[in-house]
Amino acid sequence: MARWRGRLAFAIGAAALGACVAAWPQGEPAPDAANGKRVYLEVGCFACHGRSGQGGAYNYPAPPLAQTRLPQEAFKTIVRAGPNEMPAYPEPVLSDRELADIHAFVRSLPGPRPARDIPLLNVTAPKEAPAGSRHE
Ligand code: HEC
Repeated sequence: MARWRGRLAFAIGAAALGACVAAWPQGEPAPDAANGKRVYLEVGCFACHGRSGQGGAYNYPAPPLAQTRLPQEAFKTIVRAGPNEMPAYPEPVLSDRELADIHAFVRSLPGPRPARDIPLLNVTAPKEAPAGSRHE
C-alpha cells in the first residue's frame, strides 16, 4: 500500500513537472518584461503607442497596448506586418525573443485607472467656514 502511494505521488509529480516544462520550449527562458521595456523604448514603439502603452496619435491614431488581450503569436504577426500607418518590424530589427519580451512588458502595464482612483481628481471643495468664524 505504502509503495503504491509512493509511486502514485511520483507519477503525479512527474506529470506536473512535465506540464511546466511543456509550457516553454526547452532551454528558452520565460519572457522578460524589463528587457521588453528597454526594447520598446529603443526601437520607438513608445513614439506612437505612448510610454505607458496608453496609445496616441502620431500620424494616425495608434491603439493602446497596455493590458493587450492579443496573444503573443497574434501580437508578433501584427508587429511583423505593420498594419496601415504602423511601420513593419522584420526579424533583423527585432527578434522573436525581443517581441515576446515587449509583449510581456505591455501586458504588465496597468492601463487606465478610473477617475475616482486618482487623488488629484478627487479633491473636494473646502467646506464653507461657519458664519462669524472668519478672521478678516
Ligand atoms: C509610427 C507609429 C507607430 C510605431 C512606431 C509603432 N506602431 Fe504599432 N501601431 C500604429 C498604428 C497607427 C496602429 C493601428 C494600425 C491599424 O490601423 O490597424 C498600430 C497597431 C499596433 C498593434 C495592434 C494593436 C491592436 O490592439 O489592434 C500592435 C500590437 C502594435 N501596433 C505594436 C507595436 C509595437 C510592439 C511597436 C514597436 C516595435 C509599434 N507598434 C510601433 C503605429 C505605430
